[in-house]
Amino acid sequence: MSQTKIYEGKAKILYTTEDPEILLTVYKDDATAFNAQKRGQIEGKGVINCQITAALFTWLGSNNIPTHYLDCPQPNQMRVKAVKIVPVEVVVRNIAAGSLCRQTGLPEGKVLPSPLVEYYYKSDELGDPLLTRDRIFLLDLVDPQRLTEIENMARKINQNLQSFFERCHITLVDFKLEFGIDAEENLLLADEISPDTCRLWDRDNTDPQSRVMDKDRFRKDLGQVESAYQQVQQRVLAQLKQQL
Ligand code: TMP
Repeated sequence: MSQTKIYEGKAKILYTTEDPEILLTVYKDDATAFNAQKRGQIEGKGVINCQITAALFTWLGSNNIPTHYLDCPQPNQMRVKAVKIVPVEVVVRNIAAGSLCRQTGLPEGKVLPSPLVEYYYKSDELGDPLLTRDRIFLLDLVDPQRLTEIENMARKINQNLQSFFERCHITLVDFKLEFGIDAEENLLLADEISPDTCRLWDRDNTDPQSRVMDKDRFRKDLGQVESAYQQVQQRVLAQLKQQL
């Protein structure tokens, strides 16, 4: 095989292909949390997250949001356009949860007056710290024009995903995005959108623990992680079928 492993992350492995403009992402069942201090496996997660990401990237693509997604040669494998990943993770929040509550004292579940867009430095050694605009420019991570483009795209993605998940009877609490730049200098949505990278609450359930359909079930040892991920996959794929 002409595939060479170029990078192994916590949840995915990246390989080269015969075509230098195309990479292969293999999604793993491995799960980590708290900067890999907690490790485990979620059975079937590789396939589920690959399929959910493919569905959401297809949906976003049909709404004029460019992504690096090409196709899935296997259920847990995704061919993507090769891009240079921007070293800034973009988190969009609609409802207070997680680190926002810990760092600001806002109560979990508070609906934010408008979506919050935050930037984190993609650096495992530093533990992905929160960035400010000035720190982004100080470190020369992204230039001001590109950062505006990223923020606008993140807000547009949020609007599209919120309405998509609403139709799945799921509340999109918050999520993390990564962006890449292709050979023609175009900005593309990259990486994944899955229960690993989003907070998703069952809209028909108000219990603060049983409504959780995302990786918080793993982070907080809530149990029934696999079935929650499966439920998200089922609803997302059913909704995509209706939309396209
Ligand atoms: P946070 O509340 O822990 O800052 O997380 C915000 C969102 O970002 C949540 O949906 C989970 C996602 N996320 C990742 O995808 N990767 C990460 O490393 C972290 C810390 C959060």
